[in-house]
Amino acid sequence: MSQDMDQVYSNSEDYEYVYQHPDDPSFWVEVARRRNAGNILELGAGDGRIAIPLALAGYCVTGLDISTNMLTAAAQAIEVLPEAVRARIKLVQANMIDFNIPGQQFDLAIVPSLSLQHLLTINDQLSCLRTTKTHLSSSGALVVDVFNPNLQIMADCAGPSPKVTRYIDTDTRTPGRHIIRYDSSVFSEKDHQLEVQQTIEYYQDRVMTHKTYNNQLGHMFFPRELELLFRQVGFTIAERWGCHAFSRFDSKSPRQIVVGILDEAKAVQGP
Ligand SMILES: C[S@@+](CC[C@H](N)C(=O)[O-])C[C@H]1O[C@@H](n2cnc3c(N)ncnc32)[C@H](O)[C@@H]1O
Repeated sequence: MSQDMDQVYSNSEDYEYVYQHPDDPSFWVEVARRRNAGNILELGAGDGRIAIPLALAGYCVTGLDISTNMLTAAAQAIEVLPEAVRARIKLVQANMIDFNIPGQQFDLAIVPSLSLQHLLTINDQLSCLRTTKTHLSSSGALVVDVFNPNLQIMADCAGPSPKVTRYIDTDTRTPGRHIIRYDSSVFSEKDHQLEVQQTIEYYQDRVMTHKTYNNQLGHMFFPRELELLFRQVGFTIAERWGCHAFSRFDSKSPRQIVVGILDEAKAVQGP
């Protein structure tokens, strides 16, 4: 069953904490440059964390998201930008598995930050890829960024009891603040879903000020599975990187960042 995204992303403080050291906004700007993309569609655009740097770099971005909370946060962040930048960003509330943005052909569709992993069934995943394909220009590309499943970690999480991992972080933006996060993870071997129950404790000068709870369910795409999904809807995988530094994908890469181009475009370009 899919989750209610307004519930998953209800706490902006947790979201800001998770993304306090991002290395991906500049990655996506570079992807846009390499694809020579004028017009970009971001699926699962959230609070505009990626869409805004793209617009600041001069690209036109349509940010699509299902969550009212996230779109409200994005609208607030966009509101304070210079008018010329604001004019390059459009927000759309829709489900990425079935959407229609009339009159638009995008040069590039992107699904950053594991957002595709929110789609849990094969039908939803295929439907998202098919719908996206209909919104691309003939030379367009779809780029998705998902985890590369680590077999050792998955095996640990498939045991009889959840695997609990503790992370301690210093919040570099707020002096005296640190954060302790506990992830309690269960991997289902049957359907390749990873369920993570998070407890996040916020401390100021070593005293806990408050605690939040979060429950995330995500599909773990194995590399050949992702390739088959792309092929099934008519995308050829043109490139595959293993992290946001554009390193080549291999079995130990933390991420799979996959560039799909339309089969028709591949046929024109040749092998
Ligand atoms: C991890 S956040 C990423 C947000 C943004 N791309 C970023 O990098 O900060 C995932 C986003 O995907 C959105 N999302 C999840 N399932 C969705 C769906 N079926 N349709 C549209 N958006 C969805 C969530 O609401 C959330 O904003």
